[in-house]
Amino acid sequence: MTIALDKLFRTATCVALLTAGGAAIAQQAPVKERPLPKLVQKDGRYALMVDGAPYLMLGAQAHNSSGWPAMLPKVWPAIEYLHANTLEIPIYWEQFEPKPGQFDYTVVDTILTQAREHHVRLDLLWFGTWKNGSQHYMPQWMKADPERYFHLIDKNGRPADSPSPFCTASQELDIRAFTAFMRHLKAADPQRTVIIVQVENESGTWGSVRDYSPAAQKLFEAPVPAGVLKAMGKQSGAPVNWQDAFGPEAEVNFHAWAVATYVGKVAAAGKAVYPLPLYANAALRDPIKPGAPGSYEAGGPTDNVISIWKVAAPAIDIEAPDIYMNDATAYLKVLELYRRDDNALFVAETSGGAANARFFFSTLGLQGIGFSPFGLDYSNTPSVPAAPPASAPAAAARGPQDQFAPAAQNYQLIGPMMRDIARLNFEGKLQAAAEEAGKPTQTLPFKQWNAAVSYGAGRGGRAAGNAEPVGRALVAQLGDNQFLVAGFSSRVDFRPAAADKRRQFMRVDEGVYENGAFKFIRILNGDETDNGLNFRSEPIVLRVSLGVY
Ligand code: DGJ
Repeated sequence: MTIALDKLFRTATCVALLTAGGAAIAQQAPVKERPLPKLVQKDGRYALMVDGAPYLMLGAQAHNSSGWPAMLPKVWPAIEYLHANTLEIPIYWEQFEPKPGQFDYTVVDTILTQAREHHVRLDLLWFGTWKNGSQHYMPQWMKADPERYFHLIDKNGRPADSPSPFCTASQELDIRAFTAFMRHLKAADPQRTVIIVQVENESGTWGSVRDYSPAAQKLFEAPVPAGVLKAMGKQSGAPVNWQDAFGPEAEVNFHAWAVATYVGKVAAAGKAVYPLPLYANAALRDPIKPGAPGSYEAGGPTDNVISIWKVAAPAIDIEAPDIYMNDATAYLKVLELYRRDDNALFVAETSGGAANARFFFSTLGLQGIGFSPFGLDYSNTPSVPAAPPASAPAAAARGPQDQFAPAAQNYQLIGPMMRDIARLNFEGKLQAAAEEAGKPTQTLPFKQWNAAVSYGAGRGGRAAGNAEPVGRALVAQLGDNQFLVAGFSSRVDFRPAAADKRRQFMRVDEGVYENGAFKFIRILNGDETDNGLNFRSEPIVLRVSLGVY
């Protein structure tokens, strides 16, 4: 069903039905337009501003085929259990434009309405020309015409299972559809339920490093755009073609430029009608031993071509990694590669199990603006488990929720204090760490204090690391000698930066956050602080005042 925009706009703003005599019989309060979400940068740090203040996305992504109204009852209970504040969920081009030029807004409207009912914000994923390197979400009427909406040609001269970035016919239609989608959001979402939009999904190509069609070949032999040369740190003197400029990286750089240019045009058109923050997600290459082009998805914003994406797709605010790695060295390297002066760190997808939950803290420690494990809904389980009471510790989950418990634990802790955490991080006052196997201690340096984080330490004993490296901790500075401390499976202590001094706890308050404010429960002392501040599996927050002697 296609709904006229003006009708939607009316329902989103103000409806008052009057009888013939003029009495109001039904009234819907006008929806106040909230500030537009935006990505801001200050002193080298980024914040995603939502409702005018820094926001930390405690995200969860639904499975690929869960973005249908009939599936949503299997999504919301998971989001609720997780204490997530943002749902990442796809919008499918094939659903959105069932016939050429006819847009069906019913699904996006259902998602918007239900997200508001569940007090959850949205990151909508535009499954357009590319989904995991293929054109599988193009409308059927496009797929039926591969001559017109053509695939790229691989090295053997055969069409690949990937759209050609040089197909202007597809590009024009993606621009038209994405623009209609963004225009609709502008009209239907004065509440700013949608805070960010992903343009395409893991765009690029598996199985071919670039398009080898004659038209693409001609461009490959043409001079590299000066902006690309500059972005990649090359001298831009005499015109130089891709091969001469980049040698073994020429083809993959060329494809990144081609895909980013296409996606950048789609993004720019959507942004022109509704300037929400936009991002592109990447299927990664190995961050430690990348391997030759061809061994990873080519064309997307992998770490080696982020600068090409920046220059070719300036309407994309963030290049975001999808991190499906459990090894701490590799994971942390990815975070480091995507946290750049010109790029906010946003973990758009990651695997959701216990091994990865700790990296939410690593992401925070690098001023990440969001984190979102993938596939956290109940679409793959026969029944939806009953929601546990809000106060139940997430770690105590049993059944299908078990796999979600570590992520839920994180969000249960951070959710109520999300605004403070996001603000402190934007101000550069927060540090956080995750346990790495074989490294049972870590130091988080502040000006006058070092926070010493240890894992697997018994009472007064040496830190030996946890049986599985799941520990995590965060420390935020509230004043010269005042800190907010939280974590799981870890111990935190403080050492004065001045070597001749020793620390004493002046006072340690344990509390919970309610409505964004710390609520005192008790003063911790004695066994609870003599060996440092201990964090197990409960969502505990401490406010600590330190002194020296
Ligand atoms: C990464 C993709 O972006 C997701 O849509 C999904 O296909 C996952 N991979 C599956 O692991």
